[in-house]
Amino acid sequence: MPPKHRLVVANGPNLDILGTREPDIYGRQTLADIQAMVDAKAEEYGWTVSFFQSNHEGELIDRLHKEGPDSIGVIINPAALTHYSIALYDCLRALDVPVVEVHLSNLFARTEEYRSRSVTAPAALGFICGFGSRSYILAMEYLNAVYE
Ligand code: DQA
Repeated sequence: MPPKHRLVVANGPNLDILGTREPDIYGRQTLADIQAMVDAKAEEYGWTVSFFQSNHEGELIDRLHKEGPDSIGVIINPAALTHYSIALYDCLRALDVPVVEVHLSNLFARTEEYRSRSVTAPAALGFICGFGSRSYILAMEYLNAVYE
């Protein structure tokens, strides 16, 4: 079996427009900025990273089917899919690697009540939200601790 060293970081709909999208909620960092932070941390850990974003549920699921197995783990910000995608929940459940769900904003402090419900989180090992791009880094620290 090949040594596991690849982290998968998946990002859902509308995260491609971070930076300009509701910056008072999501901050001014772009997804490329977040990717750079993730890459820097991954280098520290000696990992490679498959970092991707899609606005399409099925495309995300296809990538996770392909790249999730044999990875160190999956960090996913499902974005709006968090709140309704049973298909993504099923996909995450089927993965036999640790999954950490992350969000930039604190879902429990948002004005829309539906945001405080995640249908995908029960398929994850854990859930980190509210720390902006740091949510991703905290998830990486967890996965590193698991494999140390
Ligand atoms: C988000 C929160 C979701 O409710 C929202 O639909 C997003 C971003 C976050 O990272 O805070 O697109 O996942």
